[in-house]
Amino acid sequence: METRETKPVIFLFTFPLQGHLNPMFQLANIFFNRGFSITVIHTEFNSPNSSNFPHFTFVSIRDGLSEPESYPDVIEILHDLNSKCVAPFGDCLKKLISEEPTAACVIVDALWYFTHDLTQKFDIPRIVLRTVNLSAFVAFSKFHVLREKGYLSLQETQADSPVPELPYLRMKDLPWFQTEDPRSGDKLQRGVMKSLKSSSGIIFNAIEDLESDQLDQALIEFPVPLFCIGPFHRYVSASSSSLLAHDMTCLSWLDKQETNSVIYASLGSIASIDESEFLEIAWGLRNSNQPFLWVVRPGLIHGKEWIEILPKGFIENLKGRGKIVKWAPQPEVLAHRATGGFLTHCGWNSTLEGICEAIPMICKPSFGDQRVNARYITDVWKIGLHLENKIERTKIESAVRTLMTSSEGEEIRKGIMPMKEIAEQCLKLGGSSFRNLENLIAYILSF
Ligand code: UDX
Repeated sequence: METRETKPVIFLFTFPLQGHLNPMFQLANIFFNRGFSITVIHTEFNSPNSSNFPHFTFVSIRDGLSEPESYPDVIEILHDLNSKCVAPFGDCLKKLISEEPTAACVIVDALWYFTHDLTQKFDIPRIVLRTVNLSAFVAFSKFHVLREKGYLSLQETQADSPVPELPYLRMKDLPWFQTEDPRSGDKLQRGVMKSLKSSSGIIFNAIEDLESDQLDQALIEFPVPLFCIGPFHRYVSASSSSLLAHDMTCLSWLDKQETNSVIYASLGSIASIDESEFLEIAWGLRNSNQPFLWVVRPGLIHGKEWIEILPKGFIENLKGRGKIVKWAPQPEVLAHRATGGFLTHCGWNSTLEGICEAIPMICKPSFGDQRVNARYITDVWKIGLHLENKIERTKIESAVRTLMTSSEGEEIRKGIMPMKEIAEQCLKLGGSSFRNLENLIAYILSF
């Protein structure tokens, strides 16, 4: 039997944002179940709860971020992490490699764009986890062309014009970074692209049967092996890598609701909205007369603690028909028989979790890949409705009613079933993700 001493070891370097921690820990569990030892390298900022993963070794590195809330936006945090972690990560990796004779490779999140030089210096293969899907990946890979052609500045004036280089997308769908300084977004994009192209391979939490034409495109641009092995969360029921506590009362509240009646609303872990958008969503959900479960993350509304700006009596007047929580056990909520629709920001983890439960969506994307995903959800896969342009209560009310009670909504609900089926079949013997995982493991063992 293999022991900790003889098993191949994978070092995983997690990026400290929720939408990146979840897939990295799911991936860690997939490898652990396939006989690898796992060492998780993480920052002090947003450090994961190691007690949820007693089967992994955890190593913390100093990131030097003093006050994360003092940064103007998340992109600036990201750049600062990439410069402040160079020395601590280098020291940590050097020590780990010297102590682990069976070290197989390092898997880093794509946002750790600085890691290329170090892994090359220590002569250890570096595989990158890219947490977006292939369609968004291809759109990001053309970022420089889009910038040169001036498309990124047409997002307002020619919002609905098609993008010739990216079939299906309109100017307003192009990936956009939530930052005041466009140079900051360019710097990120350049760093990530360089790091991806020089890697030993790229892993996606994606399903190639759903995006085969995009895979062909990605293979043209990237001269390294690509492995689509998603949906990660379906391999094992992983312990929680959540940074916020899940409010489990959601589930008992859902138990009291009728089947497929509840619209679940969540805008993910980073996107933020202003007061007026928040109030429009609140009234839109209420006026739809449909039961709703709404995640309002502390910090979601600019400059506000939580939901204190709701008009007096708003919650009481719902008479139990709506529930607002700070953070939900999302995969369980989506899997609950009462959940019938998902108002989402279209982060890729949320989108994939929704597809796996066959939950039709209402898209309210914010930045980055979310806009690409929203266009695919509505126009390509046809599994949801798009809240285009300005958020208004009447549009939300109408979208919820259409999705939950109309024949159009019923068609969308039926249309998502084949995608759920594909997401299940791809993991079975001979399925695309099954095969790709086998190839990935053989590849890592060949290093
Ligand atoms: C962003 C990007 O948009 C995404 O595509 C990228 O890959 C990572 O960063 P984020 O806002 O974090 O993502 O959204 P998403 O990718 O959907 O991830 C959120 C995760 O948090 C999901 O796994 C979801 O299940 C979980 N979640 C969300 C909860 O556990 N509870 C909640 O209440 C809301």
